[in-house]
Amino acid sequence: MGLPSYLCAAGAVAVGLYLVRRLRARHWGRCTSQRSMAGKVVVVTGANSGLGCETTLRLAERGAAVVMACRDLDKARAAQEQIRRRTERGQLIPMHLDLADLNSVKEFARAFKEQFSRLDVLMNNAGVVYPVEAHQRTAQGYEIHFGVNHLAHYMLTGLLLDRLQASSTARVVVVTSSLYKKGRVDLAHIANGEDLKPGRRLNPAYANSKLCNVLFGRQLARLLEGSGVRVYSCCPGWVYSGLFRHSSLSWVARVAALPVAFLFMRTVAEGVQTQLNCAVSEQLELESGHIYANCKREEYAPVALDEPAVQGLWDLSAQLTGVRFHVTELERAQSEE
Ligand SMILES: NC(=O)c1ccc[n+]([C@@H]2O[C@H](COP(=O)([O-])OP(=O)(O)OC[C@H]3O[C@@H](n4cnc5c(N)ncnc54)[C@H](OP(=O)(O)O)[C@@H]3O)[C@@H](O)[C@H]2O)c1
Repeated sequence: MGLPSYLCAAGAVAVGLYLVRRLRARHWGRCTSQRSMAGKVVVVTGANSGLGCETTLRLAERGAAVVMACRDLDKARAAQEQIRRRTERGQLIPMHLDLADLNSVKEFARAFKEQFSRLDVLMNNAGVVYPVEAHQRTAQGYEIHFGVNHLAHYMLTGLLLDRLQASSTARVVVVTSSLYKKGRVDLAHIANGEDLKPGRRLNPAYANSKLCNVLFGRQLARLLEGSGVRVYSCCPGWVYSGLFRHSSLSWVARVAALPVAFLFMRTVAEGVQTQLNCAVSEQLELESGHIYANCKREEYAPVALDEPAVQGLWDLSAQLTGVRFHVTELERAQSEE
C-alpha cells in the first residue's frame, strides 16, 4: 500500500525546499584559507553570542589569543566554556566592554593596552537592534544604534590604533549589513535620533548605523593607507542569531516567515565565513578599504560614496568621542583632546 498523496506532496515540497536551500548556500561562499593564527592577538566585540562567538571559536581553532570583549562577563564565560567544549586550541580572554558607555570603551582600551603590546585583528562585530519606538539611548544619551554600532567602535578603533600599528599585518574588520544600502546619514540628527520614525519593515536607525559602519570603514582605510593596517567591511547575510530578539514582530508573522527563513537564513557557521575570511585570508593581504559579502569583494552602493557624509561623520565622531586619529604622526596613533 502506497503513502497517502498529501504525505507524498509534503515530502516533495520538503525535498524541493532543501535542494533550493543547498543551491543558495553554494553562493554564500566559504573561507578556504588554512592560515594559522598562532601567536596572533585578536579582539572580537560581542564575542559571547551569534557571529562573534562563532568568530572566536574559528580563530581560537587556528591558535589565536582572542580577547572576548563583552558587556556581560557571565555570558562571556559561558561562551568561553561552550567554545572550550569544541576546541582546546588558542587562548580565550574575556574582558568587559560595554559599547553603550564610552567610559567603558576607554576603560577597556586601557586594560587591553596594559596586557597586550600588539593587536593583529580588531573585529568590530557587536551590534544591537531595538524597536525605534523604544527610544533606547546610550549612557551618554546617544541614539542606541548609532552609539553602540558605530560611535563606540569608532572610539575603540582610535584608542587601539597604536597597538594595531605595532603589528606588521594588522586588520580591522567592520561587520556591517547589506541594509546599509537603505541607510541615511543626516548629520544634524544621527546622534540623537530625533528624526526617526518606525519603518514598516525596516528599522531605519539600524540601517543608518550600518551605513555609518561602511562610511567609517572607507575613511579609516584611506587614513591608514600605507601604514600596514588593512580595513575590510563585510556583510554576513541574513543569519540566525539573537540580533532581532527585541523585535516587535507578532508570533503569526514569525511563523509566516519560517519558509522564507528556511530558504534564505544562514546558520552562524555559514554566516561567519565572510568576516572570518576578512580576518585571515592571505588573498586580501594587498587589499584595503573594500566591502565583502559571500566571501567576495563587492561594489559599494552609491550611498556609501557620499564624500561629504564620510567626512562629516568622521568629524562628528571625533567631536563626540574626543578621539582623533593622528595620521601624519602614526607612531603616536591617537590622542584625546
Ligand atoms: N544576524 C544577522 O542576520 C545579521 C545580518 C547582517 C549583519 N549582522 C551584524 O552582525 C553583527 C553580529 O550580530 P549577530 O547576528 O551575531 O547578533 P547577536 O547574536 O545579537 O550578537 C550581538 C552581540 O553584540 C553584543 N552587544 C550588544 N550590545 C552591546 C554593548 N552595548 N556592548 C557590548 N556588546 C554588545 C551582544 O551582547 P549581549 O549578548 O550581551 O546582548 C552580542 O554578543 C552585528 O554587527 C550585526 O549588525 C547580523
